[in-house]
Amino acid sequence: VSGTGFSRNIILVGFMGTGKSTVSRLLAERLGWESLDTDEEIVKAADKSIPQIFAEDGETAFRDWESQAVRQALSGERRIVATGGGAVLRESNRQQMLERGWVVALTADKASLVRRVTSAETGTRPLLAGDAEARVTQLLESRRHAYDFANAKVDTSDKSPEEVAEALLRGLP
Ligand code: S3P
Repeated sequence: VSGTGFSRNIILVGFMGTGKSTVSRLLAERLGWESLDTDEEIVKAADKSIPQIFAEDGETAFRDWESQAVRQALSGERRIVATGGGAVLRESNRQQMLERGWVVALTADKASLVRRVTSAETGTRPLLAGDAEARVTQLLESRRHAYDFANAKVDTSDKSPEEVAEALLRGLP
């Protein structure tokens, strides 16, 4: 890893349940960089939980907080930035990501996603409220190409977060 000379940011994008937050912490440890999670930054800045923001202020307000969190996270360098699954929906966010670092899309097959999001704490992802499997199916369809802009892709389906981090580090430009 050291010796590649890579000193920009690494930005993880991908659907909910692809492991962005876990992998970003592992990468930060391996590289000795700082890891930042846009969802965590939003909760700090808004001083309320994500479900609370969706319920009280609506999704557009959440996306505004998110755009601000993306901008701030990318204002430094040598950061591993884990983004929320919908952070790629705004063109301006995608553009900044590509300008400020190496963007890696974590992917997974539907069965793995459903397994991971249903075993995670329930109620933390407002977009999956109700029938989580049906919502995943719907959102996967509507976001089919949302992560195509990334510089690289790592399929996480049959991999541990450690294996994903390894694969990603091997692919560093
Ligand atoms: C969202 C993904 C979530 C969080 C919010 C909305 C989305 O982040 O930002 O619930 O639109 O895909 P994770 O991808 O970390 O679950």
